[in-house]
Amino acid sequence: MLLKVLVLGMVISFMKGAHCQITEVLAEAGSQAVLPCKCSSSSTISYNIVWSKGNKGTVWRKQQSGLQYWGSSWNQRGAHRVQCPHYQFERGDYSLQINNVREEDGGIYSCRIQHGNEVTENVVRLRIIKVTISPPAAIEGQSVSITCTVTPWPYGANVQWTLNNSPFVPRTETTTDRGLSNKVVREEATSRVSGNWTCVVAYKGKHGKASATLAMKGIIKPPKDSTKLYSAVGSAVSLPCVLSSGSIPSSPVWEKLKPGSLFNPVPGRLPTSFSPSSPSSQTPWEISASLKEVKFEDEGRYRCSATIQGQRLTRNMQLVVAKIESSGVSKKKRSLTLTCQLTDTSEVTDYEWVRVEYDLNDTQSVESIQKGKSLTINTESEENHREWVCRFYGKEGILGNVTYHLHQMSGLTGEKSSNPTQNMAAIVGLSILLLVLLLILAQMYKNHQRRRRIFQYPALETIIHTASNEREERGRSQGKE
Ligand SMILES: *[C@@H]1O[C@H](CO)[C@@H](O)[C@H](O)[C@H]1NC(C)=O
Ligand SMILES: *[C@@H]1O[C@H](CO)[C@@H](O)[C@H](O)[C@H]1NC(C)=O
Repeated sequence: MLLKVLVLGMVISFMKGAHCQITEVLAEAGSQAVLPCKCSSSSTISYNIVWSKGNKGTVWRKQQSGLQYWGSSWNQRGAHRVQCPHYQFERGDYSLQINNVREEDGGIYSCRIQHGNEVTENVVRLRIIKVTISPPAAIEGQSVSITCTVTPWPYGANVQWTLNNSPFVPRTETTTDRGLSNKVVREEATSRVSGNWTCVVAYKGKHGKASATLAMKGIIKPPKDSTKLYSAVGSAVSLPCVLSSGSIPSSPVWEKLKPGSLFNPVPGRLPTSFSPSSPSSQTPWEISASLKEVKFEDEGRYRCSATIQGQRLTRNMQLVVAKIESSGVSKKKRSLTLTCQLTDTSEVTDYEWVRVEYDLNDTQSVESIQKGKSLTINTESEENHREWVCRFYGKEGILGNVTYHLHQMSGLTGEKSSNPTQNMAAIVGLSILLLVLLLILAQMYKNHQRRRRIFQYPALETIIHTASNEREERGRSQGKE
């Protein structure tokens, strides 16, 4: 290659009246490459132009007469991959356009302009940049290689990567191949490395780039493990588990993991209100589930897993349950303290209490009352149709809310509204108990009275006792005889 350049350079320098330069062109595979060839001499169209590639012969040529010819390898079934637009000729521009460039198009091209005895030759080196990702759709955890090839390779070029338009610095750089170090990136397939990979090549003041997309096969929702899901006691919550579209997962399983087993999780019992996905309502790659009515003790870690292409994929998520606890209800002061309780507050940065009111048309109006975990309200001044909502926030905004309804409050302030049948049962039960107690008391009293009567006549008691003894004695002696 070097020799060829040298030879060409020598040829050029010997040519009479030559205005030429060796130009570097970087083009992405599949795109259109423009190889410049400009002539500064006075404008005339009646030139002999020949574009040729290295030792492969003519690419395209135009005779003084205007007739054009294409090299056999550039002329497939009448369709030309190369052309030299007419309208540029007048300006002395004989740039060659190559459509849909391939790696094998890389190399040295020369543009020879002949006018009488005057010959001008321009040399262009075309380099094709291509990004190859293997495999292009990776399953989570698989090893992926992203390769940037430039044909021919520009030694001393600066190769950099961007991932989704932001610079990407490979964690493991191979220092063994200096100059080639940035060419291959090896990564473990995760959502972090999925997206659009671009290889940016800078060489001798010229820039070129090429891109390819790494798609992920796996669980895309939630995107990472230990995602926290927030819900309030009594509400329904969806446990998301969505695989990349088009995958057909087999043997999907949901589990609730026992607490404390971080490294070797032990599956426990799923809550009673757990409802697995119904295949009819979802796409085959969605295996989300739900809890119909969350209880405070339903908090904890949940795990969904499924197999695609022989690989078992799992995703852990954490359900955080919120509730409102009321305390400090005092009859005299008529005040109530509400506290917002969450099973995990590690992501919570702030609490806000809002009052929700409903007008006659059931339209709700929300009013923010105060910040903080607890709220003290005056129960006397409260009106009907009111709810208290505790909103909790994380760093990136609202995480969720939990509502305290007025009827919960009225129960506490003494305005009883409990079930009447339950009350009846309680009354009947109490009456029976009382009756039994009364009977026992009466019996005890009767016994007591009898004893007192006997003790009034102690002598009589002795007589009766002696008499019975004598009778027994007689009976025994009769039996002996
Ligand atoms: C309730 O609805 C009626 C009829 O739609 C309307 O005239 C009235 O203004 C509404 N009231 C409020 C408080 O929005
Ligand atoms: C509470 O959360 C639900 C669901 O996210 C939302 O629809 C509702 O408007 C929220 N309520 C308040 C008062 O923020």
